[in-house]
Amino acid sequence: MPYRTIIEPFRIHSVQAIAFPTPAEREDALRRAGFNLFGLQADEVIIDLLTDSGTGSMSDRQWAAMMVGDESYAGSRSFYRLQDVVSKLTGFSELVPTHQGRAAERILFSVAVSDGDVVPNNTHFDTTRANIEYQGAEARDLVIPEGRVPATEHPFKGNMDVARLIETIEEIGTDRIPMVMVTVTNNSGGGQPVSLENLREVRAVCDEYGLPLFLDACRFAENAWFIRMREPGQEDRTPEEIAREMFSLADGCTFSAKKDGIANIGGFVALNDPEIAALCRNLLILTEGFPTYGGLAGRDLEAIATGMEEVLDEEYLRYRIRSTAYLAEKCHSAGVPTVRPPGGHAVYIDAAALLPHIPPSQYPAQALAVELYRDGGVRGVEIGSVMFGMVNEDGSETPSAMELVRLAIPRRTYTQSHIDYVGEVILSVAERKESIGGYRIVEQAPWLRHFTARFEPV
Ligand code: F0G
Repeated sequence: MPYRTIIEPFRIHSVQAIAFPTPAEREDALRRAGFNLFGLQADEVIIDLLTDSGTGSMSDRQWAAMMVGDESYAGSRSFYRLQDVVSKLTGFSELVPTHQGRAAERILFSVAVSDGDVVPNNTHFDTTRANIEYQGAEARDLVIPEGRVPATEHPFKGNMDVARLIETIEEIGTDRIPMVMVTVTNNSGGGQPVSLENLREVRAVCDEYGLPLFLDACRFAENAWFIRMREPGQEDRTPEEIAREMFSLADGCTFSAKKDGIANIGGFVALNDPEIAALCRNLLILTEGFPTYGGLAGRDLEAIATGMEEVLDEEYLRYRIRSTAYLAEKCHSAGVPTVRPPGGHAVYIDAAALLPHIPPSQYPAQALAVELYRDGGVRGVEIGSVMFGMVNEDGSETPSAMELVRLAIPRRTYTQSHIDYVGEVILSVAERKESIGGYRIVEQAPWLRHFTARFEPV
């Protein structure tokens, strides 16, 4: 196209009204929720960037596919359709559907991971880590050093540190490493991509040591697009060709269809090993459902199958990655520090750099997230010491390595003017940053405290 402006590659077909709570209503809501944005009712939020998971808009084709969903308990036609889509894309012969990504993780790790094992990954997402630790195993993060520094520019900040992977395997021994995982894109590390070259290197290491490689493939299509845009020699390939090569390098994957399945619910384990698949199915029947629906309705299987086809559309991916970069550029050019370069699904504001006067013990990213809501009704999520800080026995806290606010962009849901509005809110909050104070926690749960903790301004 000869024009510079990348447009949303869709027309709006059905709309949902946004609520516009007044500043006084937002203030009341904050107090009621104990300054925890998870405690807000969605109708108290103007633009909701809490997550890109399950919050996207389905297409007319997906809604139409849902109408032909086959709700048979066993042997549903919709299962075979999804299996066909997944096996054509991934090459994996076995499909175990689940109600969402963490159920896929729990089932796979229950079968394959034992007490005392170590699972290397670039960076484990919190549910992945929690499900590995629940088996008594260690989830070890081995992302390249550049992936740990927000301001460092690198095209593939999600890459695995291959030298450290080899060191880990030598240290632990292959009998205690049930699998190597790679998360594409690397959500906890800023939504950063992994290169094909890196995946090939990890594959070679796995071959040398006889270890299986699994992808956490939630955002496989966004990762494929970054490879096409940034990796030499990949610019003429379609996202589908690149995605197929990514999957061909692995032995299996876990998947949350709430991301690059553009569905509101769903997930799966897909793999080549029929014996592990059989063990997974035994557990599936116990907790999720019969192997041809796995905790989902037949119509959900249809929505996922169609979503996985649509997500690889070039116009869609160009718009998707551009709209994230667009918001990041607004921040960057106004001097608001973010994780660089922008990731695929979210903009991560570096609250430690923006609010240096708030110590980690007073949760700068929580403070910033609260202000974005207070000023503009924009809901993001704290990814810092509230989420990842470690509470020591004496009550002191070891802070998280980074203090970030993640603004995740739901797929096909908000338009450019919504994003312009979010940019304005961020800039206006940043302008009065000296006026922002920290928080203390007044109530918290013993684990996953970020969901329910209550705060008070210091
Ligand atoms: N793996 C990654 C990389 C994820 O980002 C998520 C979810 C999961 C696994 C678990 O999938 O939610 O379907 O059980 N991430 C969401 C988020 C919740 O907001 O980033 P799930």
